[in-house]
Amino acid sequence: MNAVLDVRELSAHYGGRNILDGVNLQVHAGEIVTVIGHNGAGKSTLLRAIFNLVPWRSGHITMQGRDVMGLASDQLLQAGLAYVPQHRSVFPRLTIEENLQMGGYLVRDAKVLAERIERVLDLFPVLKTRAGQWAGSMSGGEQRMLEIARTLLQDPQLIMLDEPSIGLAPKMVDAVFANVQLLRDQGKAVLMVEQNVKKALSVSDRACVMELGAVRIQDQAHRLMDDERVARLYLGHR
Ligand SMILES: Nc1ncnc2c1ncn2[C@@H]1O[C@H](COP(=O)(O)OP(=O)(O)OP(=O)(O)O)[C@@H](O)[C@H]1O
Ligand SMILES: [Mg+2]
Repeated sequence: MNAVLDVRELSAHYGGRNILDGVNLQVHAGEIVTVIGHNGAGKSTLLRAIFNLVPWRSGHITMQGRDVMGLASDQLLQAGLAYVPQHRSVFPRLTIEENLQMGGYLVRDAKVLAERIERVLDLFPVLKTRAGQWAGSMSGGEQRMLEIARTLLQDPQLIMLDEPSIGLAPKMVDAVFANVQLLRDQGKAVLMVEQNVKKALSVSDRACVMELGAVRIQDQAHRLMDDERVARLYLGHR
């Protein structure tokens, strides 16, 4: 089966320093792939480099067989690639509804946009009941849901999530991951960076371990959970 996203030999530099070093990675439809690794390993840079947000990079990226290496971020969105960054990105002084309208700015047809907003509100009922509330007054988990909901308005094939569970209470973490699994079950491809290794691996199909800008291990998620190196370094086992 062809990959939705195919990344080959992706490298990136910041100020002459090599931050990504020849990363190879594929994500298929209906699959969750999680990237784990210590702080500073280059996980966020990997997602940013895929989304053309780092100043210098090299390699090859295709989306559904199409070369997208030269495309700007808004063109990537239109090509079916969505990205939720590590740091909060809702507009705090706009309502949930207004945030969703902004997220759909590339959808030209107002009727299509209204239908899609309706659909994502069904997926995230917590947003529906509070549509008129300021986004900035919602809990961290609810803001994460809004960020994910907003990217879905472009009807992406692949969603990149940078630490969706960061700073959330355990119950909210479970809710966010349940939504991620729902997207997978709808046939979307998900590429996720996570520090919450145990929970992330338990919902993922495959996973990679990054160290010093390179993918060191890549395997089925359940196999990595049993991997002695992963257990020692990331799951706090001896
Ligand atoms: N804009 C930047 N300019 C210079 N160096 C940067 C920049 N952004 C990141 N770096 C460096 O690149 C390396 C990788 O950073 P990155 O944010 O990708 O790591 P990460 O794996 O996402 O870490 P974390 O788990 O803390 O989020 C780090 O050494 C960081 O200091
Ligand atoms: Mg990061």
